[in-house]
Amino acid sequence: MKFFLDTANIDEIKKVSEWGLIDGVTTNPTLLSKEIKRTGEKPFNILKEICETVKGPVSAEVTSLEFNEAVKQAEKLREISKWITIKSPATIEGIKIAGELVKRNIPVNMTLIFSANQAILAARVGATFASPFIGRLDDIGKDGMNLVYEMVTIYNNYGFDTEVLVSSIRHPQHIVEAALLGAGIATIPFEVIEKMSKHPLTDCGIERFEKDWEEVKGSWF
Ligand code: E4P
Repeated sequence: MKFFLDTANIDEIKKVSEWGLIDGVTTNPTLLSKEIKRTGEKPFNILKEICETVKGPVSAEVTSLEFNEAVKQAEKLREISKWITIKSPATIEGIKIAGELVKRNIPVNMTLIFSANQAILAARVGATFASPFIGRLDDIGKDGMNLVYEMVTIYNNYGFDTEVLVSSIRHPQHIVEAALLGAGIATIPFEVIEKMSKHPLTDCGIERFEKDWEEVKGSWF
């Protein structure tokens, strides 16, 4: 399972890079606007630094659904780096834009997917990634993980190359469930990736080993 980090915060991205756990990054207008407010940087520069740090797919979302404007934005964003992947929402307009970008060899992340039908359209149009927003489905009392199950099954049935990029992750159990279903990628918020390593028995175990070693003035040689 590949890990993308769901953030535009460069400090978080650098940390997780150091941990050796990052294969890519997803941003969206909300995440970028947070980082613009925090740093006062232009989004272009923020994305450039992210691409230089990660050297893996970095999603940036077009902010217009008008066809010509969106394609122009996508072309401009791609000038930042070959790692930029363009996010387009799973509406008819977004799908038309995605199809054009695919024709131009620009990788697409079809975003805001909330149904298996939208996921089928994303695969048919040749998106590289398809992003089901599972947390937002859970938020309205639906079963987000069921959508992941449907997508993995359908993509396997037809041998679609589009990768399921599980998004809107809220807690570590989401990652376990997505992994059990065989989803290729999870895009994970920083706090959740940190929580993945936490277990009280691990902390207890370390404490006990340290104490026992101290008793014999632990020295190997
Ligand atoms: C993914 O690409 C999205 O940016 C993200 O996962 C959305 O998550 P949210 O529902 O927590 O905003």
